[in-house]
Amino acid sequence: MTKPFIQDLVKDMTLDEKLAQLTQLGPYYWGLDDTVDLTGPFKELNLKPQVMKNIGSVLNGIGARNVIGLQTRHLQTSRQKIPLLFMADVIHGYRTILPIPLAMGCSFDLEACERFAEIAAKESAAAGIHVTFSPMTDLVRDPRWGRVMETSGEDPYLNARVTESMVCGYQGKDLKEKGRIAACVKHFAAYGAPEGGREYNTVDMSSGVLRDFYLPAYKAAVDAGVSMVMVAFNTIDRIPASGNEQLLRGILREEWGFSGVTIADFNSVNELIPHGNAQDGREAAEKSLAAGLDIEMMSTHYLNHGADLVEQGKLDVALIDEAVVRVLELKDALGLFDNPFKDADPLVDEAAEPNTVHLQAARELGAGSVVLLKNDHETLPLKRGMKIGLAGPFATSVHVLGGWAGTEKDPAVSLHTGISNKTSEGDILTAMTNELGSMLEGIFDVEDEVEEAYHRLKDCDVILAAVGENQQDTGEGGSKTSLRLSANQEKLIWRLKDTGKKIVTIVFSGRPLELKPILAASDALLQAWFLGSESGNSLADVLFGDYNPSGRLSMSFPYTVGQIPVYYNAYQTGRPYDPNYPQVRYVTRYLDCPNDPLFCFGYGLSYSHFAYNSFAVEAAEASDQIIASIEVENTSDIAGKETVQLYIHDVSASVVRPVKELKGFRQLSLAAHEKQVVSFEITKDMLMFYGKDDQLVFEPGEFELMIGRNSSDYCSERIWIG
Ligand code: IFM
Repeated sequence: MTKPFIQDLVKDMTLDEKLAQLTQLGPYYWGLDDTVDLTGPFKELNLKPQVMKNIGSVLNGIGARNVIGLQTRHLQTSRQKIPLLFMADVIHGYRTILPIPLAMGCSFDLEACERFAEIAAKESAAAGIHVTFSPMTDLVRDPRWGRVMETSGEDPYLNARVTESMVCGYQGKDLKEKGRIAACVKHFAAYGAPEGGREYNTVDMSSGVLRDFYLPAYKAAVDAGVSMVMVAFNTIDRIPASGNEQLLRGILREEWGFSGVTIADFNSVNELIPHGNAQDGREAAEKSLAAGLDIEMMSTHYLNHGADLVEQGKLDVALIDEAVVRVLELKDALGLFDNPFKDADPLVDEAAEPNTVHLQAARELGAGSVVLLKNDHETLPLKRGMKIGLAGPFATSVHVLGGWAGTEKDPAVSLHTGISNKTSEGDILTAMTNELGSMLEGIFDVEDEVEEAYHRLKDCDVILAAVGENQQDTGEGGSKTSLRLSANQEKLIWRLKDTGKKIVTIVFSGRPLELKPILAASDALLQAWFLGSESGNSLADVLFGDYNPSGRLSMSFPYTVGQIPVYYNAYQTGRPYDPNYPQVRYVTRYLDCPNDPLFCFGYGLSYSHFAYNSFAVEAAEASDQIIASIEVENTSDIAGKETVQLYIHDVSASVVRPVKELKGFRQLSLAAHEKQVVSFEITKDMLMFYGKDDQLVFEPGEFELMIGRNSSDYCSERIWIG
């Protein structure tokens, strides 16, 4: 029920005032500098000062002092004294930069994800931000796409749980609380599936795929009470999402009951024109408003054509009113009518030193996100006192915050610094640590430098090769066709291998890279992602065993780019590949590469070893209850954390089902030689799917239940469930 004061405000508004309320512009239009990169076209919009008095919201963080100044000036000129909403991309922290979201997905740690969002909320709230354009919950299967770094990965179930946790972490129970901000889940829908992984490219999928894989995490955000939804750039079934009534009114509002605010992506209302779905700005405004897109970001077709459309009977003013009500309700939920500055606090925002509690949390979140991919002969953990060789472009680099790194006020802790904090400086020898630019293939011949690195490090006890991709290659507009390390980095690793010393390869990247070419040269392989402010300390904790690695891949690592898309939860095919008959040709397979990825979803090693025993499925006769359980034993002398994963496969159904789907996971902390039994209750909800007519159904039949350490290593049993 809309509050009377909001109804009164809307009644009192002119149509132009309403349309301005539905427009979001960057701070430039108020004469301020944008502090982050613009991610879309920008041109002078020639807005009249009269219009500026009524604009509803501001895009991008500008700092507490500017927010207070701008809000104060705005309220002096706004006829109805309606405060501005300040929204920004706080993707993995504001001042304290936290691990990239893909790394957070790999933590499989939902409490950590909530903590991640809480820290980001506190710091950005102090900077005057009211809404973050996060979580980005787009499901991804193509690491060529640069934005895989911003999502939690390839699985609908994991993405949904991470999303819920982040929404709770940002919003808390009451948006008015100090340190809470509104979350805006994005990009609705299926933005993570551009063809060929090419940014802004066409998305085309069946409604079954959309519902099975891509929609569940957005729905989880809605169910968790997310305040806003950002609408995607792409098409859904040939209609751009920004003008897609079926998507925005049909699925989002009618089917899911979302009552919050929707917002366009940057210029996406205008992009209906180049999409070829609107003749001009007028038609674009008509389609987007009719579809239920509330706020237009960084284009002004609502402002320029909305009134005309209403006057000529093309658009019902009620559609505009309901959008304005939603925007005002969000302002009210944040308490802005009583306190338009909310938590903006220049003293906190401009503090000389970063928050040490948040840094400590960043360090812990970082360590929990690292994934140990290989560890032959217990190469890791390192022992203190070892002579350590450190080479490669990420050895001493502080450019490891990852894309969308907030204010970038403070540099990240480099790997070298992190290691120096653990061991005596004299035990570390560095070589060939030039930054990535100079390692790029074809720019410099690095043969001599590689040779020099070999000679300099050959007497070390162990050599760490810190390699990866430039952080600028990730994030929006970061699509690539090659996922290999630069040839010079591969050359460096192989030459270091000639020393005969143990090689630990540490990969910094915002996406799964193609690691097969350096796998055999690496005794240990650590996926470091971009961990943010405390990167070097988190990594050193893992390298020295002060943190026992517990990350598990939330996205498959391909053997080669030619395998993409490769993901664990593919639909069954009519001619499955049978590994027992590798010579059979007429089955679904490649001739030159396995079907499976190099490292599968859910994979990750620990310094501990875990044994899985006594798998059992019990169906109680008296009730419908089915319990699947397994005993997990830490067979090592080291305490460790194991992520036990439950997968289910519907053997035969009215529509083809995935070969397996993650339906639950548990993280166990096991002391040395401790055993624990893990049980999962199998509920009908877990077995339901969208049938032929897009309705959720449960079909009795045979199901395969699998519990194990990752998506390809598990115990399984089939059972009839009626
Ligand atoms: O939030 C982002 C979105 O993810 C991509 N385009 C720009 C928006 C606002 O900066």
